[in-house]
Amino acid sequence: MLTPARNEMLTRVGRGTPMGELLRRYWQPVAGASALDDNPIKPLRLMGEDLVLYRDRGGRYGLVDRHCPHRRADMSYGWVEETGIRCGYHGWLMDETGRCLEQPYEDTTNPKPSKAGCEAKAYPVKECAGLLFAYLGPLPAPELPVWEPFTWANGFREIVLADVPCNWFQCQENSIDPVHFEWMHDNWGSRLRGGQVNAAAKHLKLKFEEFEHGFIYKRVREGQSEQDRYWTVGRVALWPNGFFLGSHFEWRVPVDDENTLSVAWFFMRVPKGREPYVQERVPTWVSPLKDASGRFITSHVINQDIVAWAGQGRIADRTKENLRSSDIGIAMMRKRFFDELEAMAAGKEPGGIIRSANAAQCIALPNMARELNTDGIALADFGKDPILRQRLKEFRHHYGQPAEVRRAFVEAMGIAEA
Ligand code: FES
Ligand SMILES: [Fe+2]
Repeated sequence: MLTPARNEMLTRVGRGTPMGELLRRYWQPVAGASALDDNPIKPLRLMGEDLVLYRDRGGRYGLVDRHCPHRRADMSYGWVEETGIRCGYHGWLMDETGRCLEQPYEDTTNPKPSKAGCEAKAYPVKECAGLLFAYLGPLPAPELPVWEPFTWANGFREIVLADVPCNWFQCQENSIDPVHFEWMHDNWGSRLRGGQVNAAAKHLKLKFEEFEHGFIYKRVREGQSEQDRYWTVGRVALWPNGFFLGSHFEWRVPVDDENTLSVAWFFMRVPKGREPYVQERVPTWVSPLKDASGRFITSHVINQDIVAWAGQGRIADRTKENLRSSDIGIAMMRKRFFDELEAMAAGKEPGGIIRSANAAQCIALPNMARELNTDGIALADFGKDPILRQRLKEFRHHYGQPAEVRRAFVEAMGIAEA
């Protein structure tokens, strides 16, 4: 249970708020690069700031103020040129650093036009593994962490976004909540398919550990032992707002105090014998959350999570909760945020920020699925593992995978469409 003031500290993300300033110190995934293929301009709201993401014709990425520095027209209705983005109202041209390059009327009529003071707010953007990451914090920006899975070859990757109507922190608390798998995904999942009993293997034991890049949670369920990788390796609540499950990442990126962009990156190694496989383009798609009646879609795993997150209210009221021993990880995570916020207020740099280019190049994380994704397995062996067998049959994480993404996946894996 938290006081209202402590809850606000965890959840408010606007510029100048403690958490808003902390999250701005980390590169945040904000889109798939392929989302800009058809339209190179995309309006984006991040941590309460209205922005425009673009790729100019020279291939440079920019993230600038949604409103033009001239008289504040909407830059998402402008267009990109060889360098920069041009406002459609009076033609001012800005580059990815926010510098104003052209002011057509002034440039024509004034022999010595000055553009001083006409810069647009702009943030750096970097591409990695098909994702676009933005950095909204103080310069110089730290290194972009290249997590080891981003360096894996011979795999099919896809990026899925969802617009989640609630605060980011309740989504991130789900990254350190092992018991919900038993109830939300197993027992409820079974009920949704007509099951009549709560037959999921019970959680018997939990352990939470802290490390530089977040927390590891470990579990033993009925039928498992401490020799199982769920206990010896575990899963990672990635600092500050991610989740790493071995073959995929999820991030909960604040849009504003009451909305979150869910960004997920998936990797599936092609079966042995299908290498070399080179993916030309990492597809990006948006998962719809509601059905025609306005109710949440409940058939897919992350859609189920979203039912829980949004169900806690726009901003979960943590003055009314009852944390128990299943929530030890959640308490640990909150404490680390409070400690980091305190340290930042004292002028320190928060943890997990990488300043050395070498250290950022390929960062290994505890990973239950490393061999599967680096060595690969034969197609026949997929059938021996229920989760992998299911993964070949259909994309169970998010509802709404487009047919063309499914086709590309089937082709990459060398399987026949069911
Ligand atoms: S408002 Fe953008 S150029 Fe005038
Ligand atoms: Fe979940």
